[in-house]
Amino acid sequence: MLSNSDLVLVAGATGGVGQLVVAKLLEKNIPVRALTRNKDKASQMFEGKVEIVVGDICQPDTLPKVTQNVTHIICCTGTTAFPSSRWDFTNLFKATNTPEKVDGEGTKNLVAVAPNNLKRFVFVSSCGVLRKDSFPFNLLNAFGILDAKLEGEAAIKASGLPYTIIRPGRLIDGPYTSYDLNTLLKAKTDGKKAVVLGTGDKLNGETSRIDVANVCVECLNYDNTIGKAIDIINSGERPPVTNWQQLFAQI
Ligand SMILES: NC(=O)c1ccc[n+]([C@@H]2O[C@H](COP(=O)([O-])OP(=O)(O)OC[C@H]3O[C@@H](n4cnc5c(N)ncnc54)[C@H](OP(=O)(O)O)[C@@H]3O)[C@@H](O)[C@H]2O)c1
Repeated sequence: MLSNSDLVLVAGATGGVGQLVVAKLLEKNIPVRALTRNKDKASQMFEGKVEIVVGDICQPDTLPKVTQNVTHIICCTGTTAFPSSRWDFTNLFKATNTPEKVDGEGTKNLVAVAPNNLKRFVFVSSCGVLRKDSFPFNLLNAFGILDAKLEGEAAIKASGLPYTIIRPGRLIDGPYTSYDLNTLLKAKTDGKKAVVLGTGDKLNGETSRIDVANVCVECLNYDNTIGKAIDIINSGERPPVTNWQQLFAQI
């Protein structure tokens, strides 16, 4: 059970899901350490409510101080599936923040510096990792994002740390941070669609960033989510209260 004597590191805290994860932890009075590459951006965003630590998961030497004394890590870092400015091109042919670097190597770097007594490592992966050779995931994987997510998952599983992997569908709902059509359309569930969980990477659909953040935090209160890869989409009418205990019991 999460308590206010825990310290949760949120990697990717300034991102869409990351901001919501931070908000949800603060709502539960859980101390948060936010990992960011840009201190000013994070300071402005979190207004002194969290501890801010500067680091880059692609640069291992920046990381040991980041994980010191943390009890949980929620990793929601990410870059774009297709080339964009977020890949941080140093020239036309070289980029330092590609899926391979961030989702693959970066995740491995973070796993390598996790404390031995970590209570949980939660990793936001993606649906399609086990179906990357079939349509439409083969297109999504054109620049290796699903290969890299799977590599990240494998590093976490091999680490021996208690882990939970989350595999959402295409993300919808704000904060609108991804460079895709959803950003332009600002697709919203308005909190009206129910949470559907599964295992084995069999679900298809869209997932609200709000519920990705919810599942990342809620799973920490349930030991039956340890060692699981959880698929999550939104579908059907949302009940007045989402019963996470019941949802987790189904998987
Ligand atoms: N978009 C989709 O449809 C989709 C589908 C399935 C799964 N996902 C996954 O869902 C997660 C959340 O997605 P999102 O759209 O909410 O994320 P996002 O807004 O793109 O945020 C990504 C975060 O990662 C951080 N980051 C990037 N490179 C980093 C590095 N080298 N070191 C440290 N931090 C770094 C960014 O920080 P800066 O502020 O420094 O850039 C930002 O906080 C990601 O893991 C994504 O891969 C997305």
